[in-house]
Amino acid sequence: MPVLYGVEFEAAVNLKDIIGGSSQVVAACRASESERVDALFVDPLAKYFAGAAREGLPEFLNAYTAVRTHFIDMELMDALTQKHAEAPPNAVVPDQIVLLGAGMDARMWRLPPQEGARPPAETLFELDQKEVLKAKETILAGVAKQGKLPTPKLAKKRVTLSVDIREPDWIKTLNKAGYDRARGTVWILEGFLRFFSNVQIDELIAQLALHSACGSSILVTVPSETNRRAKAKRDPADAEYQWRFGTDDPVGYFTRFGWRTVKHACVEELERQYNRVPRLANADPSDVSAYVTEGDRMVGGNYLLRALKVA
Ligand SMILES: C[S@@+](CC[C@H](N)C(=O)[O-])C[C@H]1O[C@@H](n2cnc3c(N)ncnc32)[C@H](O)[C@@H]1O
Repeated sequence: MPVLYGVEFEAAVNLKDIIGGSSQVVAACRASESERVDALFVDPLAKYFAGAAREGLPEFLNAYTAVRTHFIDMELMDALTQKHAEAPPNAVVPDQIVLLGAGMDARMWRLPPQEGARPPAETLFELDQKEVLKAKETILAGVAKQGKLPTPKLAKKRVTLSVDIREPDWIKTLNKAGYDRARGTVWILEGFLRFFSNVQIDELIAQLALHSACGSSILVTVPSETNRRAKAKRDPADAEYQWRFGTDDPVGYFTRFGWRTVKHACVEELERQYNRVPRLANADPSDVSAYVTEGDRMVGGNYLLRALKVA
C-alpha cells in the first residue's frame, strides 16, 4: 500500500497514486488547521477531501501547509483587487485564476473570507491529473448531496481540465477552454514544482510568462536546492518522484523568465511569525523526510513567492 509522509492510502475516495495522493495529504493539513482556535483560515471542505489521510499527520507538515496556504490566500486577494504598486501603467488587474496541480484546493468556495469583499473573478481554471479531478468531483458531489457545499464565491465560473503538465500542449487545452491571456491571470503553483525536473520547470515558467498579460501574478511555493539535495541523498527512491526541482535563489530564478518578485518569504520566517514552529523532538523520524535538521529544529525547504509580469 502506498505510504506518503507516513500516511497509508486505501479504500473509498483515497487516491492510490502517490503523487495524486499528495493532494489529500495537503487537504488533511488544512482540515487540522481549520480546527485550531487561532486558525489562519477555515477550509470547510478539507475534511471531506482528506479521505484517509487525516491520521497521524506530522506537525511540520501542518505548520508548513498552514503558512503557505495563508500566504497565497492573502496575495491572491490582493492580486485580484488592485494593481500592484510596482505594476506599470499598462498593467491589467487579473480576472482569471489558474491552479496548476489544483489538487483538493477549495479556494473557489472559501475565498474571499468576507462576503462581498470583492466582485468575483471571471473564471477559475483547475488543472490536474484526471484521477485527481475525478476523485475531487466525486467528493464534491457527495458533499453537495448532504447540502454542505458552500456557495462558490471566488469566480463566476469554475472549469476543470485534465492535463499532464509535462506535455507541452496543456496550454492549448487551457486556451480552448476559454482562457484569455488579455484578461490577466493569477497563476497558483502550490506544492507543485517539486514533482518536475529543472528543465521542465524552466520551460513551464517561461511558458507562463509568454501567456500572461502585464499585471498578471504568479504565486508559488519554491523548494530550496540545498534542502532538496539533502532529502534526495537521504531517500533516493523518494527523490525519483518528488524533490526534483530546487533553487536557492528563487528571486533570481523567476527574474530570468520575466517575473519580477514583489513579495517573498521563507517558510520558517512565517512559521515563527504565526507561532507554528515544528520541533524535531515531536517528530516521528519517518516524518522528517521533507525537512533538513539544524540542531533540534527542523528547517523547512521552501520559499513562498509572488512575482509580477511587468511587460
Ligand atoms: C501536493 S499536491 C498540491 C495540490 C494543491 N496545489 C494544494 O496545494 O492543495 C500536488 C498536485 O500536483 C498534481 N500533479 C503532479 N504532477 C502533475 C502533472 N504532471 N500534471 C498535472 N498535475 C500534476 C498532483 O496530482 C497533485 O494534485
